[in-house]
Amino acid sequence: MRKSLALSSLLAFGCYLTEAKTYTTKVVILGGGVSGISAALNLTASGITDIMMVEARDTLGGRAQDVPFADINVEFGCNWVQGLGTNPIHELALKYQLRTAVTNGDDVVFYGENGKINATERYNDMNKYYEIMSQDAVKRVQKDQVDLSGKVGLDIAGWYAKDAIDDAVEYYVWDWEMGESPELSSTIFAVVNDQWTYGEKAFGPGSDGDKFVVDPRGFKYVFQEEAKKVFKPNDERLLLNTVVTKIEYSDAGVTVYTKNGDIINAEFAISTFSIGVLQHKDIEWSPKLPAWKLEGIYGFHMATYTKIFMNFPTKFWDDNQFVVWADPDQRGYYNSFQNLNIKGFLPDNSTSNIFFVTVTQDLSYRVEAMTDDEVKAEVMAVLRRMYGNNIPEPTDFKFPRWHSNPLFRGSYSNWPIGELDEHHVNMKASLNNRVFFAGEAMSEKFFGFLQGAWYSGAETAMSVAQCVQGKCSPSEYYEEITNAKLQASVVRNTLLQK
Ligand SMILES: Cc1cc2nc3c(=O)[nH]c(=O)nc-3n(C[C@H](O)[C@H](O)[C@H](O)COP(=O)(O)OP(=O)(O)OC[C@H]3O[C@@H](n4cnc5c(N)ncnc54)[C@H](O)[C@@H]3O)c2cc1C
Ligand SMILES: *[C@@H]1O[C@H](CO)[C@@H](O)[C@H](O)[C@H]1NC(C)=O
Ligand SMILES: *[C@@H]1O[C@H](CO)[C@@H](O)[C@H](O)[C@H]1NC(C)=O
Ligand SMILES: *[C@@H]1O[C@H](CO)[C@@H](O)[C@H](O)[C@H]1NC(C)=O
Repeated sequence: MRKSLALSSLLAFGCYLTEAKTYTTKVVILGGGVSGISAALNLTASGITDIMMVEARDTLGGRAQDVPFADINVEFGCNWVQGLGTNPIHELALKYQLRTAVTNGDDVVFYGENGKINATERYNDMNKYYEIMSQDAVKRVQKDQVDLSGKVGLDIAGWYAKDAIDDAVEYYVWDWEMGESPELSSTIFAVVNDQWTYGEKAFGPGSDGDKFVVDPRGFKYVFQEEAKKVFKPNDERLLLNTVVTKIEYSDAGVTVYTKNGDIINAEFAISTFSIGVLQHKDIEWSPKLPAWKLEGIYGFHMATYTKIFMNFPTKFWDDNQFVVWADPDQRGYYNSFQNLNIKGFLPDNSTSNIFFVTVTQDLSYRVEAMTDDEVKAEVMAVLRRMYGNNIPEPTDFKFPRWHSNPLFRGSYSNWPIGELDEHHVNMKASLNNRVFFAGEAMSEKFFGFLQGAWYSGAETAMSVAQCVQGKCSPSEYYEEITNAKLQASVVRNTLLQK
């Protein structure tokens, strides 16, 4: 990396001068989340140290973020190690002795309008039909049949949500995991994603499980510790508090512009920005992104998953790990509550009583547009319907606004119905073998998960390392993605005939 100072940004009346810097480096990594850190480690391991990392926040970790809440820290972002065994995230959790607890989704109690309900049978049905849907998906692939939405996949398997209780069960099993409804999701890729993370193929025996991180150092700790292997204190290759605004690319290289006027000239760039950020046009591209790339970017979905934390003077809820509210009017309305007052979850010296509820998708957008007090009033109204009018008000109340946050624009990606493999290839394909794309969403096996971010960062870094060594593989993408069946259909007759 070379740094040079240039006098620029001469502001209005000429009396104020800021100092913008121009840097020159081989590889610039854009974003310091899990994927960026993994890319930095991989490049360093390949002997490429002329690198820089640019991160908008004042710290590394990206969506691994915890905040002080009541007398503990809670995770606003990723919370579970999902998939155990040799999952690299699991290995990091073990290496740094991250404190975790075991959640059990079956330890759940359901409430409806008239109090507690026994939804065991429907809950077991849902799980049974989900399993059948998974087996059906394999058969469909064997026969080269098209993908189905999760809704249709479940319906064919035998599950159809008939009432508010079924909706609540379905939301708890599907949306609470994927962050989006079955209508929006792909069946085949939901199964692919499940199998890579929880099947034994990738992470070996014992991979089927989750660990809920309850470490006071936060989930981010393991990633920040790994990053320290690359970036020493005050490493001038790491630019924190630096927002990328524009990326210029050509066959010759990449120029990155930042909000504070800095310019980074690089031979190669690795963007790790979330697919939500790419979709939201928070970054200006020059030249404009080609249509095939835009088709790839906009085909995918960025889901939003919002944990709303509450701390109460006393615990008034059930002892189960989870409590599900079956709202009579609106599917998913403050549906899935989680009890942190279970042995092993809160630190021993904590006196908090924490109950939190998760909303997703449209309900997330809705709460993000409301004030905290308005949201609190709605959640409390639901809790009073479950537990009566004598329950106390929360003393602490907090939730993140992932969708509105310009650095994230959502929580994690979800493979939507209609997205083909080719769209995904285009989404992550490089531009001129100069700008490469990494991040959770770019992993076709582990999208949505931390391991997706981790693998994608390393794999992309390896491609870049090959380019640095003058052995670039050609960038593969589909200029046009066609659907043979459409050619002969009514679509063609309607749209192409004069
Ligand atoms: C609420 C929530 C719950 C989750 N739960 C789990 C879970 O339980 N288990 C699991 O495995 N995964 C979970 N995830 C997903 C997991 O957190 C992500 O897959 C992973 O953290 C993504 O890492 P990344 O490096 O791809 O992206 P990011 O972490 O988004 O990294 C990108 C970085 O780019 C920075 N950036 C963005 N725009 C700019 C800009 N213009 N200029 C400079 N920097 C910029 C951002 O600040 C960020 O640090 C969850 C995520 C959320 C939000
Ligand atoms: C709930 O219903 C199931 C059968 O559907 C039954 O086996 C179980 O005992 C019931 N649970 C309670 C607590 O009544
Ligand atoms: C609990 O113990 C930890 C570690 O000793 C400490 O950092 C924290 O402040 C304590 N919390 C409370 C509520 O006393
Ligand atoms: C970089 O990551 C790739 C993909 O995971 C891996 O095959 C390769 O060995 C890594 N390179 C180094 C030098 O660690």
